[in-house]
Amino acid sequence: MLKQIKSIDLKPSMYVICTASWSNHPFLKNRFLIENENDITTIIKSGIREITIDTSKGVPVTIAESVSHGDKEIKPPARWEPERLVTDELKEAVRDDKLPPEKKARIVYDSATVIMAKLFDDPKAKNISAAKEGIYDIVDLIISDDKTSLNLLQITSHDFYTYTHSVNVGLLSIMLSKALFKGSDAHDMHELGAGFFLHDIGKVKVPPEIINKPGRLTEEEMMKMRIHPYQGYKILTETNQLTQECKYIVLQHHERANGTGYPSRLTGDDIHVYGRIGCIADVYDALTAERSYKPSMPPFDALKLMKEQMIDHFHKELFDKFVLLFS
Ligand SMILES: [Fe+2]
Ligand SMILES: [Fe+2]
Repeated sequence: MLKQIKSIDLKPSMYVICTASWSNHPFLKNRFLIENENDITTIIKSGIREITIDTSKGVPVTIAESVSHGDKEIKPPARWEPERLVTDELKEAVRDDKLPPEKKARIVYDSATVIMAKLFDDPKAKNISAAKEGIYDIVDLIISDDKTSLNLLQITSHDFYTYTHSVNVGLLSIMLSKALFKGSDAHDMHELGAGFFLHDIGKVKVPPEIINKPGRLTEEEMMKMRIHPYQGYKILTETNQLTQECKYIVLQHHERANGTGYPSRLTGDDIHVYGRIGCIADVYDALTAERSYKPSMPPFDALKLMKEQMIDHFHKELFDKFVLLFS
């Protein structure tokens, strides 16, 4: 029997069928058995939100022990309780001193993407605080481990899905904050990290057909899109999740130093320094992302364009520090 489910609800041992909407899926076959969490992560990272499963072929997900399926041994299905967003794999990886930086970075990046995908599906208070636990671990790792941070920069994915974008902006902004605030205890890096990862959470209030539109947005659609900073601020206020200062990241990441941003057309120092950090990372990630109407721009070209054509959008000193992250 065929059934449509959300990708984030997939479990190992389910049998999935690729449909026409998966135009460029990364799997070798069009029908296959989900073997492990990595397969699920790959599907989520491909931007596939809904998926068809064949319940007559998959192994029932309630089976609690290992079962064999043909010649393959299938591990027991992991439980994905909605509130349990942070996997043990992430917790163990960030604390494992022997894990090579490139491997650690890959686990962190993939886990962060899945955390954000689940959070965007249901941004209730319980889920936001669970996600924050994982983000705190990632912040600690970036602060203490330069090698893994460098690897994280290199593996940044350039597809533009809200959750990959949230991870990229989160990671880049934490790195910039580390460079700016090193040695100062005036900044709560954990809360800051959470603010950066959650900067676009208000997009859950924008109609999905606008969020997922393959082409450029019309002016009318843009108007609807421009509500997301305020909606995000509102969600975080209602769920009582971030300090007032860190909520400025969410509210002000589309403000521009020259007054051309939204929602309040603030200028210069009226934009909180946390909002200005988020803005730089956000623009950089939008430029380097691949969209259906534009190819991905290489990092150097994006930085060059920001410097030559957009410098009055940013705080110059912050931008210079941002460029140094890539040197
Ligand atoms: Fe945004
Ligand atoms: Fe953004």
